[in-house]
Amino acid sequence: MTYQLHPLEINPKTGEPFLRLAAPHQNIILTPPRQGDQSVLIQHLNDPAIYGWMQALPIPYLPEHADFWIQFVKEESDATLESLRKSAEDFPNGPLQFVGGNPVGHLREVKEDGTDVLIGDVNFRRSAFEEVLDEVERKRVQEDNAKKQAGDPTIQYTIGDWLAASHHGRGIMTAAVGLLMTAWGIPRMGIRHVVVHTFAENIGSSRVFEKNGFVNRGQFDYGKIVRGEKKILTLLEWKQA
Ligand SMILES: CC(C)(COP(=O)(O)OP(=O)(O)OC[C@H]1O[C@@H](n2cnc3c(N)ncnc32)[C@H](O)[C@@H]1OP(=O)(O)O)[C@@H](O)C(=O)NCCC(=O)NCCS
Repeated sequence: MTYQLHPLEINPKTGEPFLRLAAPHQNIILTPPRQGDQSVLIQHLNDPAIYGWMQALPIPYLPEHADFWIQFVKEESDATLESLRKSAEDFPNGPLQFVGGNPVGHLREVKEDGTDVLIGDVNFRRSAFEEVLDEVERKRVQEDNAKKQAGDPTIQYTIGDWLAASHHGRGIMTAAVGLLMTAWGIPRMGIRHVVVHTFAENIGSSRVFEKNGFVNRGQFDYGKIVRGEKKILTLLEWKQA
């Protein structure tokens, strides 16, 4: 089992898998979402420093939104871990099998007493193809992309992320995106192509991706309206050569 989880570590007390950020952020780990994350999620996603930069978020962000989301991401994470368990049975001595998702998307800060606090979220999703303007065509490419099997190098992914405002500007998300790409996305999901859209004014978010090797393809007007405001988006793209 442990082999097919590579390079996830296992918390010896709880059995929970995790990835640890490198120094100087070694007190920050990525874990699966947990039942009980809702209250912290509600606190941060109602913060304008966070939701002001996010596209598809219901505001105010209510307990029912958080319940729905935590159930959704928990089911995804559990399904990924289940498929890793199945791979361990089928291929006990390897080779490592591709999986369709990343089970550890919740960023937590570990305190000195060993307890941890949810401080953010970062994960891969299959692309929404906002760059395809024709609605019928967009739906077609979304569906084609969604049908592809785990590990297919032609899948187009995107990354969604947010970090508690108290932790902005310390290099945490740059490190987290880098770790997820190199430790999980590329080797374990077979990711070869990622397209991210940020609001044009979201320089911090663009920098996170640029610092991880994404190419800034410029700003585009897709006719996007978010909470009543027109939004120009920056497209950032990463493709393995
Ligand atoms: C975007 C976000 C995830 C960045 O996380 P972070 O951990 O603060 O980012 P980092 O500390 O790794 O910073 C990365 C780079 O962005 C720069 N940066 C960070 N915040 C910035 C800001 N508000 N304005 C300008 N640059 C900023 C940093 O200086 C750094 O660049 P540098 O090394 O060239 O100086 C975080 O600010 C956030 O959660 N914002 C709200 C939600 C959001 O925007 N999500 C992304 C939607 S696309």
